[in-house]
Amino acid sequence: MCGIVGIVGRTPVAPLIVDALKRLEYRGYDSAGVATVENGQLDRRRAEGKLVNLEERLRSQPLGGFVGIGHTRWATHGVPNETNAHPHFSQDVAVVHNGIIENFAELREELSAEGFVFASQTDTEVVAHLVARELRRGLRPQDAAFAALRRLQGAFALAILFRGDEDLIIGARNGPPLAVGHGNGEMYLGSDAIALAPFTDSITYLDDGDWVAVRRSGVEIFDMEGRRVERQRQQSVGTSLLVDKGNHRHFMEKEIHEQPEVIAHTLAHYLDFASGGVKNFETPFDFAAIDRLAVSACGTAYLAGLIGKYWFERYARLPVDIDIASEFRYREMPLSQKSAALFVSQSGETADTLASLRYCRSAGIPIASIVNVRDSTMARESDGIFPTLAGPEIGVASTKAFTCQLSIFAALAVRAGLERGTLSREQAADFVRALSEAPRYAAQALKLEGRIEKVARALSQVRHVLYLGRDTSYPLALEGALKLKEISYIHAEGYAAGELKHGPIALIDEQMPVVVIAPQDRVFDKTVSNMQEVSARGGRIVLITDEEGAARASLDCFETIVMPKMPELLAPIVYALPVQMLAYHTAVVMGTDVDQPRNLAKSVTVE
Ligand code: F6R
Repeated sequence: MCGIVGIVGRTPVAPLIVDALKRLEYRGYDSAGVATVENGQLDRRRAEGKLVNLEERLRSQPLGGFVGIGHTRWATHGVPNETNAHPHFSQDVAVVHNGIIENFAELREELSAEGFVFASQTDTEVVAHLVARELRRGLRPQDAAFAALRRLQGAFALAILFRGDEDLIIGARNGPPLAVGHGNGEMYLGSDAIALAPFTDSITYLDDGDWVAVRRSGVEIFDMEGRRVERQRQQSVGTSLLVDKGNHRHFMEKEIHEQPEVIAHTLAHYLDFASGGVKNFETPFDFAAIDRLAVSACGTAYLAGLIGKYWFERYARLPVDIDIASEFRYREMPLSQKSAALFVSQSGETADTLASLRYCRSAGIPIASIVNVRDSTMARESDGIFPTLAGPEIGVASTKAFTCQLSIFAALAVRAGLERGTLSREQAADFVRALSEAPRYAAQALKLEGRIEKVARALSQVRHVLYLGRDTSYPLALEGALKLKEISYIHAEGYAAGELKHGPIALIDEQMPVVVIAPQDRVFDKTVSNMQEVSARGGRIVLITDEEGAARASLDCFETIVMPKMPELLAPIVYALPVQMLAYHTAVVMGTDVDQPRNLAKSVTVE
């Protein structure tokens, strides 16, 4: 995680670096800092907490200099205070880092024994001292950095600045992404192209193992053996506009409300509503030619994949293995040459998902990714991508990316069903027609906000919540619990409703709210039976269903959120909205930092 920026500029760079860091704050917001070289001297400003604190510090103590580096931190090693904030200094060197230096303890011991004094608890500081040691040994800055890089193990993106050199930043990538931005007499480094978008759209992505010397006149890129390499320069599709909240209190609220529109855009990219067909978009594998699909992702994206599994297996009779990416990458799954892999990620940068992708790459099977950021590392390393058209998602808790991922899974399942001959054209057309209604139902679901706020006020009083669902509502129950935990800090668990009696039913008493997600689908009556078990033990049920479902359940619920009646295939997409709104409003009542909840970051580039 963490975001890094470097600028070799023609004007004072500190304000520009802060501007770029604002676009990277989604990567972490534990602390931030900037270092520059002015009149040959290194100087820095750092502040604990969000970027506004650093801005305030820079207002009272401005920083000059036409070359500099900056950082916004998600803490890995060392508490999130100012001492541990980047940039880290050794005498003649400043370093910002994203990732983890795995051999830092050993290096720290070695450097301490030689008299280097450590000011922080971070792993990053060893990099500064390693480079400083090479400078002391008489190497030029560029060679000193290269020598130090060869000692590092782990995952890192680095930017290094040198006292006495106002025309040089060294960047290095081994794992987390790093982009070079080409300007006119100015050059840039950044964790992604969006950070550099106000300055340039001409971008070179470093490959793993690359390092780069950035000067005003241009860049030289090297591999880990020190050989000059050429990397393609490309036009970035990143937007230079800092997305704003409009009239909404939070990005999350705005993003929830954007869903009817972005679901419509995404579905229309894959489906032909007029003819009831699936568009002939490119796929890196033929669904009829594979006998298994391995799906892997993290967090909310994983839960989208779990719903996708139900659809692929049900409508296309295609077996799906779905894994949490941090497990998949190490579990040595045998992959036959008739299988294909599909990865799901909003950011396209999540370290575990990327490592899983590379595992499948080494197995030689075709790779596709559902990504929201089209020039992300995952997008570039896949054989083909299925872009979600959600637009930038800023709130740390994923909402619109999730429903767009689901929209693509639905479209792909229909396409796979057609290609594998398990769906007729008429059946597929029925599904496409049903999906064309998803945006309308999503807009109707948004109108339930008042009712949901009332439930949220009740939830804000409790410490534990259970979510139940069956079939595709089971992953949605997991998603509801995840969303509530991460932004309200209330403990929540999601369960398959049928699993309740195998343990969690022991938790039910008069205090326990149980959110039941129960669209009228093939398992509705089974879910009602499980609700009865909760009701019999005094549990406070919040039922999410449609009007007829509420009547059929005929239970005394604490609250019923009445959804429009809709075809089964749409339910996970549309029922996601009340689930998200419930978490959002509970967090608002509790007064938490909804868009940037504690301990989290939007893009998880460490494992
Ligand atoms: C939860 C959430 C996370 C992400 C997960 C994967 O609201 O947003 O669980 O879904 O970190 O991130 P991406 O999709 O960027 O790979």
